[in-house]
Amino acid sequence: MSEFSQKLGNSIIGSASPQVIVKVPGSTANLGPGFDTLGMALNLYAWIGMTLSERETEIHLHGEQMDGIPRDKSNLIYKVAQMVFAEAGVSHPELDIEMHSDIPLARGLGSSASAIVGALVAANALIGEPLTVDDLFQLATRLEKHPDNVGASLYGGLIAACWDGESPADIVRIEPPERLKVLVAIPDFGLLGDGAKTERVRHILPAQVPMRDAVFNVGRSSMLVAALCQGRLDLLARAMRDALHQPYRAALIPGMETILREATDHGALGVALSGAGPTLLALVDGAAGPPAALDAFLRETLRKEGIAAETMLLAPAAHGAQILTAADVRCTFLEKIKGEVRA
Ligand code: HSE
Repeated sequence: MSEFSQKLGNSIIGSASPQVIVKVPGSTANLGPGFDTLGMALNLYAWIGMTLSERETEIHLHGEQMDGIPRDKSNLIYKVAQMVFAEAGVSHPELDIEMHSDIPLARGLGSSASAIVGALVAANALIGEPLTVDDLFQLATRLEKHPDNVGASLYGGLIAACWDGESPADIVRIEPPERLKVLVAIPDFGLLGDGAKTERVRHILPAQVPMRDAVFNVGRSSMLVAALCQGRLDLLARAMRDALHQPYRAALIPGMETILREATDHGALGVALSGAGPTLLALVDGAAGPPAALDAFLRETLRKEGIAAETMLLAPAAHGAQILTAADVRCTFLEKIKGEVRA
């Protein structure tokens, strides 16, 4: 078993051959107070197939959300793969790439992180895994510029990670509490209406914050990690409060303040903006039955603001990126993932 597989507890199905398919989970970041440091993988996936090619590069994007994504060498997956090859000192300028994603784009559910992680893992696997999982994590963090989404997509489960922008990033994986489920309300718009990048959404945040807000978040974030480690679901409502980013981002998402204030009255254990948004995320107790009242509250609150939203009941994804198969022929990509993708 490869180092990647050993470290992540994955299995490689099939024999070594020209195509690698990687299944990678989406993620939520911050969980309220853990700005740029806490992340959780979700059971909403993207699949990336990659083959070394002797012909010109071809990029096939399957699924509904792929409009506007480049199909030439400016494609993120292609560029990330080339970074892996450069890091490993090999040259493979031509690739066949396929992708299907169930992760909504630009909604705060880690779609770009999943593409980066999937590309890193696939490219590394194609050349015999010269880079360690930690090497991939460091590359992913530098590319994404924060470690929370990429860490969750790579390692799975819950992660606490930190990066100062220069030194190597650190990460610890935490097993999510068994009963934890995740209800997300995904507005039908990308932030700023055009699939805006997280970078732009971060510009709304102040350069400096009052000491009391920093202390508020240090306390909540620490309490949240401790509560999640010990399964103290009763603490989540208070531990998920935030003073560093959500108050500023609320201006971009009508209904968000009401949801953050009142979701726990409708059955949420805790509630937060998912990453930079606009998706709102409520943690729920899976043992308490379907969260119908909470679901209705989330939809209705957004509807009153004129926002249509899709809700999904998700779960933490235990596994991070997994190498699914090494197939002989590229055209089997859709057949390989059929039955796994959302209908
Ligand atoms: N921690 C990042 C942010 C996550 O809040 O900007 C973006 O998905």
